Amino acid sequence: MGAASLDDATQAVILAGGQGTRLRPLTLARAKPVVPVLTRPLLGWQLALLRAHGVTDVILACSYRVEDVRRALGEAEHLGVRLRYVIEAEPLGTGGGVRNAADLARGTVFVLNGDVLTDADLSAMRRFHEERGSRTTIFLTRVADPRAYGLVETEADGRLRRFREKPGPEEPVETDTINAGIYLLDAALLGRIATGRAVSIEREFFPALIADGVPCYGWAASAYWRDIGSPAAYRETQRDLLLGRAAMPVAPPGDEHDGCWVDTTAHVAAGAHLVAPSVLGRGVRVGIGAQIGPLTVLGEETRIGADARVTGSVLWERVTVGPEAVLEDCVIGADVDIGPQARVAAGAIVASGSSVGPRATVTA
Ligand code: GDD
Ligand code: MG
Repeated sequence: MGAASLDDATQAVILAGGQGTRLRPLTLARAKPVVPVLTRPLLGWQLALLRAHGVTDVILACSYRVEDVRRALGEAEHLGVRLRYVIEAEPLGTGGGVRNAADLARGTVFVLNGDVLTDADLSAMRRFHEERGSRTTIFLTRVADPRAYGLVETEADGRLRRFREKPGPEEPVETDTINAGIYLLDAALLGRIATGRAVSIEREFFPALIADGVPCYGWAASAYWRDIGSPAAYRETQRDLLLGRAAMPVAPPGDEHDGCWVDTTAHVAAGAHLVAPSVLGRGVRVGIGAQIGPLTVLGEETRIGADARVTGSVLWERVTVGPEAVLEDCVIGADVDIGPQARVAAGAIVASGSSVGPRATVTA
């Protein structure tokens, strides 16, 4: 056994200070860590996972749109964790952010990128870390196109051999194994991260540990995993959750009826057609003859007019959809007004606060 014990690693730092550029325009209106996923803020899913694995002391390393995050999560007592916010005056990067936020001098800390959604067995990861005597363990997953991620090569026993963040287009890539953005770190190593400037955990800290022979391992798990970094990933993740492809520790919010999760305050008119799986949030109203679903998420106070059809789409809060409008496989931000008989086509993203006129068509 190492210095740490199995009930260690109950603190986590969540990196939530990125700008979410690739998720624009959705992130113009709301910080990426709290974009709604089946109406629940993205970080709410992470906190539930952490809680399920005994991690109850969570520090959010923020630097951008902190008020959004606070508004969505507060102190998170209702989620069974203690949540603290540490705010960077200037973004410190993924390494600097962890060093700045972690308040453990000894023991082990979980670190999570704030935009990943996974059902990984963090308790198994913690056991692996202990058994190997690892000082830094990186959760590894495999993807079809690894270039957009941190590439990780390991020895047969899992020991890290090489970490290469986002190789250039001319560099050969021999692995499809990537950094899944969840780590266990021996807190004593955080002193290696420079202060006073931005430091990338991926470009500086991990390669230096390997070069210095510090025992670091990759933990390869076949868990559900996704980085919600793009609008397509944002929509696909919700589709996966609706289809039960991830074994999350919490169900979608609302009461389940025939494969749909419906808040008790939502109202579906007689003669409207609800197709599973879908989620209807607080105060949603669906008019006569409308079809909602399959694979549709309606945020709080969203109103769907008579005979409208909404399939495969994610609507945020307070969206108004006029009668006979048709929405397919799209994402609609908050406070959007969609006129009667308008059409929003597959792949389209409508920014929060905008309007779509009567009979207008929006394409991707
Ligand atoms: N506090 C803080 N300060 N957080 C930051 C900062 C910062 O300066 N910069 C980025 N973050 C946070 C982001 O909010 C995000 O949650 C996390 O750090 C990772 O940043 P991304 O911008 O999402 O990085 P990425 O997706 O391109 O790459 C990272 O994740 C991949 C897996 O999803 C890397 O860790 C890759 O190696 C990894 O494969
Ligand atoms: Mg990311």
